[in-house]
Amino acid sequence: MTINAERIARDIEAIGGFSETPPDVGFSRPTFTPAWRMARDYVIAEARQAGCQVRIAPTGNVHARPASIAWETPVWLSGSHVDSVPTGGKFDGVAGVVAPLEVLRAHPEAPLELIIFAEEEGTTFNLGMLGSRAWTGTLTVAHLAGLSNRDGVSPLDAGRPYGVDAAAMVHERLDPRGYRGLIELHVEQGPAMWKAGQRVAVVTAIHGRRQYRVHLMGTPNHAGSTKMDDRADALAAAAAIMTGLEALAQRLSSRQDHTVITVGQLVVLPNAINVIPGEVTFTIDFRASTNAMLELGHDGIGQLIKAESARRGICAEWAATESLAAVPLDAGLCERLRAAARQVGVDPLPEAASGALHDAAILAPLLPTAMIFVASRDGISHNPAEFSRPEDVALGAEILAACVNGAA
Ligand code: GLV
Ligand code: MN
Ligand code: MN
Repeated sequence: MTINAERIARDIEAIGGFSETPPDVGFSRPTFTPAWRMARDYVIAEARQAGCQVRIAPTGNVHARPASIAWETPVWLSGSHVDSVPTGGKFDGVAGVVAPLEVLRAHPEAPLELIIFAEEEGTTFNLGMLGSRAWTGTLTVAHLAGLSNRDGVSPLDAGRPYGVDAAAMVHERLDPRGYRGLIELHVEQGPAMWKAGQRVAVVTAIHGRRQYRVHLMGTPNHAGSTKMDDRADALAAAAAIMTGLEALAQRLSSRQDHTVITVGQLVVLPNAINVIPGEVTFTIDFRASTNAMLELGHDGIGQLIKAESARRGICAEWAATESLAAVPLDAGLCERLRAAARQVGVDPLPEAASGALHDAAILAPLLPTAMIFVASRDGISHNPAEFSRPEDVALGAEILAACVNGAA
């Protein structure tokens, strides 16, 4: 059997059918929900059909490998996630799950383990890559217990019906001796490859990320009777900080390309047309390709919040909710992917850096790790219009197959 793009397209469509929202609105699969379970169970059923044995780990991650290969035998690891951002696309994460699934169908004896990492996006529990962090032990059970979803439930409790087991988790950490390396396939989520007519690429580095939660407290007051000079408007302060953040990102990106800041979430209280906003909470997502730039931006963000809130008589509190360094991927494994690409007729294999984060960044310090990117149409992602050609995902799967089946 050979890698088949139609089967890959069918898998992507099937998983897209499991969503809390209709396709025209977008694809929504928060982790540890019925929609997520249906996507996970579809992959499990297909992997079993392909002759795999399957384990749901105490982290909630799913592992599948050929039934003929004992769990103790070191093999290659490949996978991604099936959770999505709210109203996201069909390909983010899913492409990286169905590609190794297809490799296992086409090569039922491949020394390959498919993994579905539980909760990559960070939009279900306000922190990303939970499954990979729990597996590597970079996130403790206590930290997981402190997170909560839209219903106020922690991933430990929400995940229990899905196989999460806090007590067992600590005894089942990733043992790097158990794997030869991780190769995560993912859609690029940016426009560079599509513009350049590149179908696939090897990813040599992943940018770092800092995330923050900012809380501004002003004075809720009457919108008619309170003169402009008498106000402490938390939302006006937030707006000024946001435009300041945009200007900061422009300045920093002129020094180092692809330095970006996003405010993606905003909560206003009391959120009424005739009340001056008294409280605002918003998030900041800041990314850069070097750790020096992450430090510089961190300082700039703090100074900006402090100065703008003081000027307006607003009380400001902010906290970092995440700090992840920029990660170089394994040079030897990247080279192996180039050699695998040559075998399937892609020579040279283009290079890319990832502006988005991936579970690969969490495993990279422990295992030889590399990524294969597949072009994203017009660079659109985290959007229902997200699209990659199934034949390009299939080409990525062929490279993955050649890589894991290659000698040595
Ligand atoms: C994952 O999608 C990220 O936010 O980088
Ligand atoms: Mn992803
Ligand atoms: Mn994503």
